[in-house]
Amino acid sequence: MANFRRKQPSRRPQKPAHEEPPVLGQVEIVVERVGARGDGLALSHGARLYVPQSLPGDQMMVKFGARRADGWEAVPVALVGEAPGRAEPPCKHFGTCGGCVVQHMGPEVYAAWKLDTLRTILGRNGLLDGVTIHPMVTTPPEARRRAVMTAVRRGKRLWLGFNERASHRLIDMEHCPVLLPSLVAAAQALRPLLAQLLTQDGQQCDVALTQLDDGVEVVLEGIPEPKLSELEMLSAFAEAQDLARLAWRRKAGAPAEPIALRRTGLVSFGTVTVSPAPGAFLQASRQGEQALASLALSGIGEAKVVADLFAGSGTLTFPLATKAKVHAVEGEETAVRTLEGGAKQLPVGQVTVERRDLFRDPLVPYDLNRFDAVVFDPPRAGAEAQAAEIAKSTVPTVVAVSCNPTSFARDAQALLAGGFRLMEVTPVDQFLWSAHLELVGVFRR
Ligand SMILES: C[S@@+](CC[C@H](N)C(=O)[O-])C[C@H]1O[C@@H](n2cnc3c(N)ncnc32)[C@H](O)[C@@H]1O
Repeated sequence: MANFRRKQPSRRPQKPAHEEPPVLGQVEIVVERVGARGDGLALSHGARLYVPQSLPGDQMMVKFGARRADGWEAVPVALVGEAPGRAEPPCKHFGTCGGCVVQHMGPEVYAAWKLDTLRTILGRNGLLDGVTIHPMVTTPPEARRRAVMTAVRRGKRLWLGFNERASHRLIDMEHCPVLLPSLVAAAQALRPLLAQLLTQDGQQCDVALTQLDDGVEVVLEGIPEPKLSELEMLSAFAEAQDLARLAWRRKAGAPAEPIALRRTGLVSFGTVTVSPAPGAFLQASRQGEQALASLALSGIGEAKVVADLFAGSGTLTFPLATKAKVHAVEGEETAVRTLEGGAKQLPVGQVTVERRDLFRDPLVPYDLNRFDAVVFDPPRAGAEAQAAEIAKSTVPTVVAVSCNPTSFARDAQALLAGGFRLMEVTPVDQFLWSAHLELVGVFRR
């Protein structure tokens, strides 16, 4: 029988329910399927129930809980008929921590759920006909190489961890089976230091941890400029912990100010080694990054001149440059500098770099028609304006890398309207046990 990890009762007063549920007592339900956010979906008394930590086919006794969107939270009471494929969650924080939503799924059920979610989104948008959907590329536990945690002082105690699901309450993280052990160790080592920095009750900051090739990087976000004594303390910490880099910034997105640059801060992409600015975007795991790069490489086929749009620090640019001349376009200034540093390591003209806001000023057919293939990898919002221009161009091949199947589907529609066919899609799972899914789609015409 499954052992449900119950959400710990909140210490805050609960909001009064504004609406009475259709039934006050227990009801028996069967979970039909698991929805995109990881909750089981069931119907009872004409109402939709969202059932946490359930599997398709589970028969359960539940009560109606809080109102949620178009339905109600289900409060599990007992599992009366257990569907196959349940797993023992490996993390003691599962059930409260917002990082993972489905550790109760065994690997087969988990892969089937992610694939089903993807197929549902693609199907809803008419994108399944004639498309090959490849098996999902998975990332193992203890592989995530970047994470942003929150630290807060509450009374005498320092809390450090991730938020609870759909809440601003914090989990005081003791371990994390998803992150690289080096990042968990760095987080634990940071506690006494953060306790000295955050001295006022309620004071908090974010802590961005990244494993680079030459060590761990820590960026403290949302703190006031450190005083001299604090800078000395932070530098001594970087030394004692053998960090690659330690930096701070006033808020997420602001430039990170270095405190200790003990090493260069290196990442290798293809044949090139770059030094991204502290806090720069990197794919969440080495395994995921390599999968995306090899899918982009195979997706461009024999293309000899390629545009890599939303290029970041060159995750895809430099692997692509082993096979083609690449024009990398990116909006963020520090990432552009990283790209330029990498391009200098290659023969002149192999990689050219352009800083451009591709939302406001996308490449137009005049710019695009010289490319044999375009690769784009936008943020979650997608590449709406850029996809519309590619549709008007003569580019024969597009490889779309996406961290959001919904915006991918919208951009795919624009490409299809421009005469492209979606040939194949490969889901890439970099965020183990979460509801996130990345994918690579190859379009040709
Ligand atoms: C998902 S990341 C991908 C980066 C890179 N392809 C990689 O795999 O590491 C998206 C990139 O788009 C860039 N970006 C966001 N908005 C942009 C815009 N309006 N114009 C150009 N680049 C933008 C971000 O700076 C970031 O580097």
